[in-house]
Amino acid sequence: MARPQKHVFVCATQRPPGHPRGSCGQKGCAEIVDEFLFQFQQRQCFDKVMVTPCGCIGPCGQGPNVLVYPEGVFYSAVSKEDVTAIFDEHLLGDQPVERLRAPADMW
Ligand code: FES
Repeated sequence: MARPQKHVFVCATQRPPGHPRGSCGQKGCAEIVDEFLFQFQQRQCFDKVMVTPCGCIGPCGQGPNVLVYPEGVFYSAVSKEDVTAIFDEHLLGDQPVERLRAPADMW
């Protein structure tokens, strides 16, 4: 297996309603996980990108949250439409999507 150039972690954590930390699940992360996996398959970029649904990665109330390595770029409040921009501009174009980055005081 080739080492991926970009590794995307998409929070898939679901906590029960009323949990004090909230969760990306409550913000609709299942749709974001599905869209990343769908686009990953559609683009056939298996030798460049790896997509991993994951557990909590930090600021739960600001989700859905996505973290891209090796740069350590954190995207918060990601929508389904944002996934295309992250794929095109960052994962395949190597330019982080500045307008979607989490605020500096958050990450
Ligand atoms: S639940 Fe997604 S970052 Fe914590």
